Amino acid sequence: MQRILVTGGAGFIGCNFVHYIMEHTRLHVTVLDKLTYAGNLGSLAGLPPERYDFVKGDICDASLVDQLVAATDAVVHFAAESHNDNSLQEPRPFVDTNLVGTFTLIEAARKHGTRFHHVSTDEVYGDLALDDPARFTEESVYRPTSPYSATKAGSDMLVRAWVRSFGLQATISNCSNNYGPFQHVEKFIPRQITNVLDGARPRLYGNGLNVRDWIHVEDHSSAVAAILRNGRIGETYLIGADGERSNREVVEKILVRMGQPVESYDLVTDRPGHDVRYAIDSTKLRRELGWSPRYGDFDAGLADTVRWYQENEDWWRPQKADTESNYAKQGH
Ligand code: NAD
Ligand code: TYD
Repeated sequence: MQRILVTGGAGFIGCNFVHYIMEHTRLHVTVLDKLTYAGNLGSLAGLPPERYDFVKGDICDASLVDQLVAATDAVVHFAAESHNDNSLQEPRPFVDTNLVGTFTLIEAARKHGTRFHHVSTDEVYGDLALDDPARFTEESVYRPTSPYSATKAGSDMLVRAWVRSFGLQATISNCSNNYGPFQHVEKFIPRQITNVLDGARPRLYGNGLNVRDWIHVEDHSSAVAAILRNGRIGETYLIGADGERSNREVVEKILVRMGQPVESYDLVTDRPGHDVRYAIDSTKLRRELGWSPRYGDFDAGLADTVRWYQENEDWWRPQKADTESNYAKQGH
């Protein structure tokens, strides 16, 4: 394998994956990204031109996709509409990008016999109760609850069907909540850090007790790279780093780290249909591919992330006001 096509490479996880590939392999990377509100070319600045191309375009554009897939050895598919709150306001782009876009890519990969890795989320499995000892595994039943997770679940099903019916050379990964540098300020952790930097209070939905299973984005990248290299075709791998924390716990850690009183947050209107808890059992990935996370210490990863937003205001500032005015309309 010499060349990979990374869709959504100007987004949060995609750009971190591109940086990871540049540092750890000799692969050539072509990024295909539409540069929606979530895409930022600044996240890809400084990459070596002999190993990297950027194409601005839509994964629903069949002729562009066909041309790019024909010229690559593998596709790593990150592009998506990715934010639950947005999917509740305006679901249409989620159907277009997550379903039609994935369909367009796998049709091209099937035609050209191209290796395909589909990046997905643990949210396809719905949620768990706070006191349930269970965690999601590759055998868990699909029970998506939001327009975002329903369209991601549908995209996983398309990939599975293309493997079985057409012999698509694909793997799928479902990862838990990521944190780290270059994450849009609409998402939970960057929103709270940048609120504190702006002198505003963090905002917790509902009672703040919902639980997410946090993984550093660099650990997600290393897992996807391992699956691309050694994953078995047709298989699904769950990616997680045993990072369950309540939202309140995370906000308290941010406040303490940033020198604020621990209780200086507000409880705000809950998200409709808000998933209670996600938790990943990543035994299969660890046993089969020998993967393990590098960021075992959530507090240290969070401290790095706080520092990154403190030092990179130029990157996040242009998005902040629009994001907050959009949240204000939703009562969040
Ligand atoms: P993001 O919103 O930060 O980035 C998405 C990128 O896709 C942006 O650069 C955007 O411009 C691009 N894009 C959107 N529509 C496009 C289209 N039609 N054509 C081409 N490009 C388009 O998202 P993210 O958080 O980096 O998530 C990346 C992937 O990882 C998604 O598939 C998401 O479902 C999955 N995932 C995310 C998380 C998480 O915690 N953020 C966890 C597990 C899985
Ligand atoms: P989010 O980053 O939107 O990720 P997801 O919905 O994919 O899990 O939200 C993470 C958690 O934080 C989720 O339980 C919703 C909650 N949340 C808040 O409490 N306050 C906020 O301002 C945001 C954006 C999210």
